[in-house]
Amino acid sequence: MPVTGMRQLLVLSILSTGAFAALYPGLSTANHTCALEPPVLSCSEKAQPGLVDTCCVETYGGLVLQTQFWNTYTGLESDGQLLPEDTWTIHGLWPDFCNGSYTQYCDLSRQYDPFPSPNTTDGTPDGTPVEPWTGAPISDYLEAFEKYDLLAYMNKYWTAQAQPSPQLWAHEFSKHATCYSTFDVACYGAGYRPHAEVVDFFATVVSYYRALPTWAWLAAAGIRPSNTTAYSLGDVQAAVAAGYGQGKQRPYVGCSGPRYNETAAGRGSDDPGYTVLSEMWYYHHVYGPVQGGRAEKLDASVTGGSLSSCASAPGAIWYYERTPASVA
Ligand SMILES: *[C@@H]1O[C@H](CO)[C@@H](O)[C@H](O)[C@H]1NC(C)=O
Ligand SMILES: *[C@@H]1O[C@H](CO)[C@@H](O)[C@H](O)[C@H]1NC(C)=O
Ligand SMILES: *[C@@H]1O[C@H](CO)[C@@H](O)[C@H](O)[C@H]1NC(C)=O
Ligand SMILES: *[C@@H]1O[C@H](CO)[C@@H](O)[C@H](O)[C@H]1NC(C)=O
Ligand SMILES: *[C@@H]1O[C@H](CO)[C@@H](O)[C@H](O)[C@H]1NC(C)=O
Repeated sequence: MPVTGMRQLLVLSILSTGAFAALYPGLSTANHTCALEPPVLSCSEKAQPGLVDTCCVETYGGLVLQTQFWNTYTGLESDGQLLPEDTWTIHGLWPDFCNGSYTQYCDLSRQYDPFPSPNTTDGTPDGTPVEPWTGAPISDYLEAFEKYDLLAYMNKYWTAQAQPSPQLWAHEFSKHATCYSTFDVACYGAGYRPHAEVVDFFATVVSYYRALPTWAWLAAAGIRPSNTTAYSLGDVQAAVAAGYGQGKQRPYVGCSGPRYNETAAGRGSDDPGYTVLSEMWYYHHVYGPVQGGRAEKLDASVTGGSLSSCASAPGAIWYYERTPASVA
């Protein structure tokens, strides 16, 4: 992804026991009735293995980011892969560590990503290889569970660029969802049916996304896609912060494209921020299982990271209109 945030990749080795590489080796399939557990907040002092059921409180990646894209085309229009009208699309739901760093591909036995990126768990040539998945697309699991409604919703709102959308879903599941304690296979109990947690994860991502209408929040402030009028980062930030956290909690605003100081408009400027609005990351802590959606909104600066990769010069940001033929 082109966005350069402040999230730092952390290299960890995760121990493997048996078929699944559990985040907490030896976790029993028994119990895990979350209704019996206090809904402890992720990243609070009590949210530790040993103090709570790791299936019922997120204890691993407790900083939960719902991430969204603004793309103007998909590249697979001829296959019918189109963007939905007047809404940003889903990127994922990431479990960052409480301090803002993160890890990835935490269970290689649940690796369904045909194009792993990076292709080793720590991103270095000497790291553990993440082998490309060559089996059926992950969308087949939704069909096996007869979740045709969820599949249709994902096809519409979780749209990839330059690859079939199910490849993006597989990437998000295998790279990120395997690093949540509450989506661990043992949590699904003795009656676990393979891929139940995949379906559960996708439904959870959708539920977070539906509460975060970026397009409408920007439009309410008069910020609509335009190929003739550029915007200022401060106005974009104020609009989404007003929608998300009544001005108090700000999402991270990501840009791609050329750096401002390398555009004609920014010649001579020392603002190296990027100029094409393309991502929004909403930070949360979560009470109880992530699946339950009881989230506390956070300012994106919670771990001391940057709030944006975009240029901050006035009128430096392009929120481009979509290509008409790319919209459903
Ligand atoms: C499951 O719950 C029962 C009843 O509370 C308890 O006796 C047992 O130790 C628990 N098992 C595990 C593996 O936590
Ligand atoms: C961030 O948190 C992770 C997980 O608890 C830990 O392994 C890592 O050392 C921490 N990083 C820093 C810089 O404190
Ligand atoms: C990962 O990708 C790099 C760059 O394409 C390649 O040189 C390397 O062999 C790949 N490593 C693995 C383990 O596939
Ligand atoms: C723009 O900023 C970047 C990052 O600071 C720098 O590497 C680059 O040389 C600058 N470009 C120009 C044309 O000044
Ligand atoms: C607006 O510009 C973007 C980026 O160059 C382009 O992809 C899109 O097709 C344009 N949309 C319209 C309606 O011209």
